[in-house]
Amino acid sequence: FKVVVPAHPLISHWVSVLRDGSTPSHAFRSAMAELGRLLIYEATRDWLPTVTREVQSPMGSVVVESVSEAEPIMIVPILRAGLALADLATSILPSTRTFHLGMARDEETLLPAVYLNKLPDKFPKGCHILLMDPMLATGGTLTAAVDLVRERGAEISQIRIISAVAAPPALEKLNKKFPGICVYTGAMDQIVNEKGFIVPGLGDAGDRSYG
Ligand code: PRP
Repeated sequence: FKVVVPAHPLISHWVSVLRDGSTPSHAFRSAMAELGRLLIYEATRDWLPTVTREVQSPMGSVVVESVSEAEPIMIVPILRAGLALADLATSILPSTRTFHLGMARDEETLLPAVYLNKLPDKFPKGCHILLMDPMLATGGTLTAAVDLVRERGAEISQIRIISAVAAPPALEKLNKKFPGICVYTGAMDQIVNEKGFIVPGLGDAGDRSYG
């Protein structure tokens, strides 16, 4: 089990903008997108399929390494808040496919319900899948999302999770159910309150993004 909070001032900066309750919705969304882009950069550092080929620069031939466009990275944004986090994924990654997953937590039971599932029947063998959701609170949502992805043929080693703020209950649940899964997050907070909110966290990421 690996939880990575990359030590980088830009990651701290965009988390600070998200935490600030006075950040308006449009700035909140763009901070979330930037954070997502930086976390994708970190999460794919040792994880992207690459190819080498020869190209002609204006000054002569050169062997270059590039990201394989034949093996798109599978992006799974978990609606609503994951849409903002995944917004720049298709610009930082040369080749992607996006599969939306709509999940909402019941305010009383805190259990997630799936209201939209655009996952493929089966993921291509060996593909790389990024599950993107800003908040890992009780972990119910992400655990259910990983289950759905695994039911479609993916192994844990093919899945990485990207979040803005993660809390111990979610990390413990994920670790217990899916040993070896990797989480990349902008920050770690210690408390999940009785309403299922991370404290201090950044509030309701879906509401702050989309009102
Ligand atoms: C929030 C958040 C996560 C989930 C985390 O979504 O964006 O998806 O709750 O909670 P958990 O770890 O306890 O399951 P919400 O259900 O509020 O939907 P939204 O993104 O549409 O606001």
